[in-house]
Amino acid sequence: MELENKTIIVTGASSGMGAAAAKLFASEGANLVLGARRGAELEALAASINKADDRAVFLAGDVRDAGYAAALVDLAGKAFGGLDGAFNNAGIVGEMQPVPDMAIDNWTDVMSVNLTAAFLAAKAQIPAMKARGRGSIVFTSSFVGFSNGGMPGMGAYAASKAGLIGLARSLASDHAAEGIRVNALLPGGTITPAGGEGDPAALEFIAGLHPMKRMATPVEIAQAALFLLSDRSSFMTGSPMIADGGVSVRLV
Ligand SMILES: NC(=O)c1ccc[n+]([C@@H]2O[C@H](COP(=O)([O-])OP(=O)(O)OC[C@H]3O[C@@H](n4cnc5c(N)ncnc54)[C@H](O)[C@@H]3O)[C@@H](O)[C@H]2O)c1
Repeated sequence: MELENKTIIVTGASSGMGAAAAKLFASEGANLVLGARRGAELEALAASINKADDRAVFLAGDVRDAGYAAALVDLAGKAFGGLDGAFNNAGIVGEMQPVPDMAIDNWTDVMSVNLTAAFLAAKAQIPAMKARGRGSIVFTSSFVGFSNGGMPGMGAYAASKAGLIGLARSLASDHAAEGIRVNALLPGGTITPAGGEGDPAALEFIAGLHPMKRMATPVEIAQAALFLLSDRSSFMTGSPMIADGGVSVRLV
């Protein structure tokens, strides 16, 4: 068991890679605090995990809210006695537009859900991890924040995801001596609602950008997150870890 008795917050757990990660982490022995906007989906996921073993609690809310970030950490303490890890994974793509056509509101929305929320999460999570003398934080960045990979109209999204790499590296430097590791995970195109699921033309276009000529399944990305949250990655901090089917090395 890779996460035996570790308590982990997973945001964006209502669908896609967050839901896959929650199930995988539970199967690896983690206690889970599940977060996302949609309470009904979280409740169903927690119930399915708890059928096997009583190890998941949930709280619906908006990651842009500092109070919500703090409440997830409080819940980890109340339900399981502390916090060992966080998969800060909630995110949105926003509208895909060339920057000259992009509304400032879209820029602001994407930055606040994808980047400011990560800042708020780290602010709430690090003191709890410090109290334990250990912790692992993972931010879901994206290949688009590193290479673009051929995706059109993603200025706001790319900037937010690149920002997560900088935030992870800075936090890694500040908190390594406290036993807290912070890494960014850069998935390639993944078959989820945000990744074009249900839109065959989008899936075909995105798959075609990857040298592997396919997209990831959510579980493949969850496995990379599991590695970063587990002690298997004990010497990794400040790393932008790429799990992208080679899209960032493709020749155009
Ligand atoms: N799917 C891809 O191709 C891909 C590739 C690279 C990175 N990512 C990133 O992976 C992460 C997970 O996305 P996914 O593909 O599983 O998509 P998804 O749409 O299935 O999941 C997104 C999750 O984020 C949550 N969320 C969104 N806004 C929120 C808010 N304001 N407050 C609380 N929760 C909120 C949603 O409720 C949902 O649970 C995102 O950060 C996304 O940017 C996705």
